[in-house]
Amino acid sequence: MEIRKYQAKDKENCRNVCHKTATAPKYVNSKQLVCLLYCDYYVDKEPDNCFVVADDNDNAVGYILCAEDQKAYDKGVKPYLKEARKIDFVDGVMPILESIAFKGLCKKYPAHLHIDILPEGQGLGHGSKLIKALEEHLKAKGIKGVRLGVGGDNTGAHRFYERNGFKLLKNLGNMGRVYGKEL
Ligand SMILES: CC(C)(COP(=O)(O)OP(=O)(O)OC[C@H]1O[C@@H](n2cnc3c(N)ncnc32)[C@H](O)[C@@H]1OP(=O)(O)O)[C@@H](O)C(=O)NCCC(=O)NCCS
Repeated sequence: MEIRKYQAKDKENCRNVCHKTATAPKYVNSKQLVCLLYCDYYVDKEPDNCFVVADDNDNAVGYILCAEDQKAYDKGVKPYLKEARKIDFVDGVMPILESIAFKGLCKKYPAHLHIDILPEGQGLGHGSKLIKALEEHLKAKGIKGVRLGVGGDNTGAHRFYERNGFKLLKNLGNMGRVYGKEL
């Protein structure tokens, strides 16, 4: 297994990782919806900010995807959210509402990330390596902080982020948590 920069050939594997690691029934039932929300914008518009963990055949089995600046993301993600709203209206407006609700946090932590690894690659340290690779990359670009949202019941991921030095910024109970790290 190797951590490397995302390449265009990884897109379909990343979409599969995004779909296969989703747990909410509406995402399990719609690969298009979950990928519009959590994958496609990042790999299409900010490929330089994405890293993968690749298996021995160089197939991506996990990723960390990142938008480095909230304002650029808000603008660039619009067409993806428009498509998402045709499938699920609430999901397609949620990132817009979050950007407004978390305006202060977005200033201090302008970047945000999504990280997922297929089950067979989990618990082997690859997630922590992906976090480090992204942090070094963002630091070199002068980005001040990175944040992420996670499900309220995903206790394994809470532990993972805390172990990797992220601070709990918002705890909305079963609605989810926001973690952040200054760089
Ligand atoms: C969360 C995730 C990215 C962590 O990456 P990882 O490579 O499994 O994690 P690492 O091996 O670097 O670190 C292990 C730590 O992560 C946590 N962890 C979270 N999910 C885990 C899993 N499925 N298996 C093992 N450890 C997991 C544990 O705290 C573990 O520490 P511990 O050994 O003290 O219990 C990965 O497990 C994953 O993709 N899970 C499913 C999808 C998901 O929850 N994504 C995050 C959504 S916000």
